[in-house]
Amino acid sequence: MTRFDRIGSFIEANEPELPDWLRSIEEKAIADEVPIIRKETAGLLRFIIRTAGPERILEVGTATGFSALLMWHFSGGMVRIDTIEKYDKRIEEARVNLSANAGDSIRLYEGDAADILPTLSEQYDMIFMDAAKGQYLSFLPGVLRLLKCGGILLTDNVLQEGDVMESRYAVCRRDRTIHSRMRDYIYELMHSDELESVILSGADGMILSYKIRK
Ligand SMILES: C[S@@+](CC[C@H](N)C(=O)[O-])C[C@H]1O[C@@H](n2cnc3c(N)ncnc32)[C@H](O)[C@@H]1O
Repeated sequence: MTRFDRIGSFIEANEPELPDWLRSIEEKAIADEVPIIRKETAGLLRFIIRTAGPERILEVGTATGFSALLMWHFSGGMVRIDTIEKYDKRIEEARVNLSANAGDSIRLYEGDAADILPTLSEQYDMIFMDAAKGQYLSFLPGVLRLLKCGGILLTDNVLQEGDVMESRYAVCRRDRTIHSRMRDYIYELMHSDELESVILSGADGMILSYKIRK
């Protein structure tokens, strides 16, 4: 185990326990190899929910509903979440998990975020971007349109296991497009006049952005 892995395990061991129903959704996702948030991302979501208290959240990338339910849980059931998923098999499982545990507080949009984002008109206090990494850049204008001034955008998996910091020639050919798109996305967030952003190296790398009030 590397020092980096040990730091992750230590942070994980200090996170508050999840209720059994939520832990079993997490464990099933892990057993089924569904990619869900790591403990450090969960910790940051918990912190944002508990401190900033967003009332309306949009999540891009539901998988089976674990992170949406985690945010809902840490809000004490107060938050309303819209979440988007395009993969049929995950949609079915997410629908069951979300309605069984959060009733109608979490709305599942079924389809491609590229098609759904332009149809949304509400303003969100927080947006959690956790879908296909190669599409973040193309989602960004739609996401910024939906984010309130003073709102938070959290983007997960920006470091791509460290690949993103390597030269494009050091990553395998099939990953080069996603590598350059992620670099462009990071550049956009870090240089946008609309956002104040910080890169966090925990988990698989996250960017926390704040939409500047005009
Ligand atoms: C990393 S997983 C989300 C994990 C989830 N947020 C959690 O932690 O419980 C990313 C999900 O985004 C979905 N996805 C990828 N591209 C998408 C798109 N263009 N529109 C909607 N969903 C997408 C994938 O099918 C996958 O289930």
